[in-house]
Amino acid sequence: MNLEISGLREIVDELCTTTCLEREQLRQLLLMESPEALEYLYASARRVREQWYGKKVYVRGLIEFTNYCRNDCYYCGIRRSNSRVERYRLTHKEIVDCCRAGYMLGYRTFVLQGGEDGHYTKEDLAELVAEIHRLFSDCAITLSFGEWEREAYECWYEAGASRYLLRHETASQAHYEKLHPKSMSFANRRRCLEDLKEIGYQVGAGFMVGSPFQTVEDIIEDIYYLKELKPHMVGIGPFLPQKDTPFGKEKPGSLIMTVKLLAIIRLMHPKVLLPATTALGTISSNGRELGLLAGANVLMPNLSPKDVRKQYTLYDNKLCTGTEAAEHRERLADKIHQIGYELAMEKGDSLVEL
Ligand code: 5AD
Repeated sequence: MNLEISGLREIVDELCTTTCLEREQLRQLLLMESPEALEYLYASARRVREQWYGKKVYVRGLIEFTNYCRNDCYYCGIRRSNSRVERYRLTHKEIVDCCRAGYMLGYRTFVLQGGEDGHYTKEDLAELVAEIHRLFSDCAITLSFGEWEREAYECWYEAGASRYLLRHETASQAHYEKLHPKSMSFANRRRCLEDLKEIGYQVGAGFMVGSPFQTVEDIIEDIYYLKELKPHMVGIGPFLPQKDTPFGKEKPGSLIMTVKLLAIIRLMHPKVLLPATTALGTISSNGRELGLLAGANVLMPNLSPKDVRKQYTLYDNKLCTGTEAAEHRERLADKIHQIGYELAMEKGDSLVEL
């Protein structure tokens, strides 16, 4: 399907207003392939991001603190049933040391991400958050630790975590059930996102692009769900197979579709924080630059200890030593400069209202 630029202009204008696009218009947008139309879409998204966030690209230091996980998502390399992954869990001290190293490098947001590791109690994590909050009081603490009871989320919020990343993965229940075993619940994931918002976290939702069985209709559901949830951040990246999972032989998601979705999300959520993800950088060497030029405004370099980075294998060939490594800040700054943007080390809260 080909969309003329004039038709596209109307659609882009509508995307920017509060009304949500009709299904048919979204479908056209998602199927559109002409390079001129895509460039128009990306340029529109850039304009909107620059209107709110200028040329800044925010960076967050990512600490992958455990790759143990009680879940068994069919797509994920650290799923419980994957016996080929070497498991690790950082100690409290190691995590604090990562933050300290990050702080010295200038990072002012720490993202603590982990599999759903039952070894940590609610209290353990609260203690850790409180200590980081005390030692680095001018930093934001983001958690990305999966599904927990509301009480745990409240306790961590009180300890000093102010942001939480929990991708919804897919907004279609039928699709969700194809990506997850029966033990996992679509409804609980949504409950978590609602609880997190109510508690007062800046919340990040998101999904994989091109995950197995995903249809254009499913993506439209994701777009509608995001409109309803109004998250502060949206994490999307292409699905990438990991060979030791049930989806190990599935084909990866598309680079162009991912970049197009970043642009659509920027236009529909002008103030959202939108990372150009590691998965985007993994699928193509200039993937993250393309994302940044289509409305993305966040990067999440890796601050985990070097010896464990290779073990956090959500998918194969995951980048962890190039410019995505937090210690290569200068190289990263250069790359960002080359595309006309500038590295922003500050905390960088979402402009989306709480
Ligand atoms: N490919 C791409 N992204 C993945 N994730 C997990 N496994 C994969 C994969 N094989 C994403 C999920 C999860 C986030 C931490 O990583 O969306 O929420």
